[in-house]
Amino acid sequence: MRMYDIIEKKRDGLPLKSEEISFFVKNYTEGNIPDYQASALLMAIFFNKLNDEETLHLTKAMVESGDTVDLSYINGIKVDKHSTGGVGDTTTLVLGPMVASCGVPFVKMSGRGLGHTGGTLDKLESISGFNVNLSKEDFMNNVNDINIAICSQTANITPADKKLYSLRDVTATVDNLSLIASSIMSKKLAIKSDAIVLDVKVGSGAFMKDLSHAKELARLMVNIGNKFGRKTVAIVTNMDEPLGNAIGNALEVKEAIETLQGNGPKDLYELCMTLGTKLLILAERVDNEAEARKLLEESINSKKAYNKLLEMVEEQGGDVKYIQNPNLLPKTKYVMEIKSKTSGFVRSINAEEIGKCVLSLGAGRETIDSVIDLGAGVILNKKVDDEVQIGETLAFIHTEDLDKGKEVENRILDIYKIGEKNIDGKTLIFDEI
Ligand code: URA
Ligand code: CA
Repeated sequence: MRMYDIIEKKRDGLPLKSEEISFFVKNYTEGNIPDYQASALLMAIFFNKLNDEETLHLTKAMVESGDTVDLSYINGIKVDKHSTGGVGDTTTLVLGPMVASCGVPFVKMSGRGLGHTGGTLDKLESISGFNVNLSKEDFMNNVNDINIAICSQTANITPADKKLYSLRDVTATVDNLSLIASSIMSKKLAIKSDAIVLDVKVGSGAFMKDLSHAKELARLMVNIGNKFGRKTVAIVTNMDEPLGNAIGNALEVKEAIETLQGNGPKDLYELCMTLGTKLLILAERVDNEAEARKLLEESINSKKAYNKLLEMVEEQGGDVKYIQNPNLLPKTKYVMEIKSKTSGFVRSINAEEIGKCVLSLGAGRETIDSVIDLGAGVILNKKVDDEVQIGETLAFIHTEDLDKGKEVENRILDIYKIGEKNIDGKTLIFDEI
């Protein structure tokens, strides 16, 4: 088999056979195929697409390129959740304890933030002592003991995806639905949970900027999950404005704690309820949505979910005082208040732009090895559709650097689009697939 022939075939719009896809993935991962040939194939795929069957083969080949994590030692139906990435998305820290406290084993191997989106591991590290580097044995034992563990991926999972994703990043070939679906799903399938709920974000802060593409991505991912024998559901959700009010690591941990205590932002709470409902049903904990909701609401009202967070922090070596008293979490020297210069209604808050502001405050990574400022970030005091008066607080900036804060203030004043009329209600959940 020759790489040249595979490139030519896809260039001419023909479907690739499973052996051809495996040949490419295996040999590219092993360094036997040069970047220029891989790039040519990616660009041919970008223009001529992969059909569903090719997408499945690609996903399978990527899973097989590295280790898989067998979780069968964990009792019960294990659930996993994945978000395609957003701004201020604190969901895992709320949802995990909620479903775990309802008796469902929640297994989550998370990533770090890169670019304008944050990462759960960074957020957790704002809790003093919290260990995200669990061995596979500790990970499984923790889930067996308390139904939850969140850790980093230590094993050599999907090396093909790592290499291909870096190449796509520099050859303008990220934006292809089959490539995105197989990239995300290969990582999910390599960690062998029984059921997966995917939160596919759409809007200004998401990979997918429009609803039809987001739905198609969701369909592709659900198809891959189910074909691999994993119960998979996708929810398409709004990421046009940031989720909740807090964006930034420690600020989001505080927001998660407040949400678990029943005082969180409505959108974050509602999203956790929706995703949690799906997880409880997939885990066969309940028979229907009404029962699921009841259990989840009770987990918040009874503080069971909050106590589950405490338990998880304790199990993973963190200091629970940071949860009991969030004022101990990392803080910045300055908190700046941004006041509105006009009156009216907030019509939009571009999530990606807010994400970039937070990144520039030092809360995120510009490159893989940037050191991040855990205390930095932004709190939105007004969200889309809220009424605002001149002089009222739009947002707070948490920063170590007043000059940077000033610059971000000007940017945020520009990002808040305020008009005379309110928008006609906003949608949080667009679809379920
Ligand atoms: N996230 C991924 O993991 N892969 C993609 O291709 C896009 C987003
Ligand atoms: Ca948030």
